[in-house]
Amino acid sequence: MAEVRDPFWGIVESFGVDRMFVLPEWIQEKVDSVEEQTVPEGIPGKMAALEKELAGCMNCPLGSTRKNIVFGEGNPEAGILVVGEGPGATEDETGRPFVGRSGQLLDKIFASVDLNRKKLFIANIVKCRPPNNRTPSPAESETCGVFLQRQIEIMKPGVIIALGASAARTLLNTRTGIGLLRGEFHRYMDIPVLVTYHPAALLRSAALKRPVWEDMKKLKLYMKEAGLPRDSEENSD
Ligand code: URA
Repeated sequence: MAEVRDPFWGIVESFGVDRMFVLPEWIQEKVDSVEEQTVPEGIPGKMAALEKELAGCMNCPLGSTRKNIVFGEGNPEAGILVVGEGPGATEDETGRPFVGRSGQLLDKIFASVDLNRKKLFIANIVKCRPPNNRTPSPAESETCGVFLQRQIEIMKPGVIIALGASAARTLLNTRTGIGLLRGEFHRYMDIPVLVTYHPAALLRSAALKRPVWEDMKKLKLYMKEAGLPRDSEENSD
């Protein structure tokens, strides 16, 4: 943190005083006010500040049943944002997105197009687990969607990959079925959104593997054209 020079100390020093006893509460007040004034720099700094802001969120009923908020993780500078529906049981336990069975399959799907978690950022429409893994309600998606929108504004991704009907319909504000949406690029604001099936659906139906593979081929072509993932220190291995 940069040193913050308070004009007050200049005056105190001009009286030849080099030390003072101060109350701990007063120090804490100073630290808090300096932290408030410090504008986070760069995409990772801004994302970290947003995550901090979200801590303890009770903006919707999901706040009272969750164990952990799942903010999202990965490389926010790489320009590729993956959006799922909401945390499941393992994600709620760990505070990390897509770490259960769906997540393991998702990692394999992305590995097939040379992507990994250092080359993308994974988040969800809602950051807290809906009880019994139910679909988030429109009100919950809308309330929490404000945070997703802010993540998008910070990241300015070159592409968003929407996993499943719930993520796609919320992002694209449509009731169209996933069968019609998938495999195509749509738009969120000005950002291309590729819709594909949720990995949980693939775990239930092997027949969906082929279309997802087709979608990944489209993604690969698009990434090449758009120069994605963007170079960043994180993914330079
Ligand atoms: N399913 C989701 O949609 N998101 C997760 O983080 C995990 C499972």
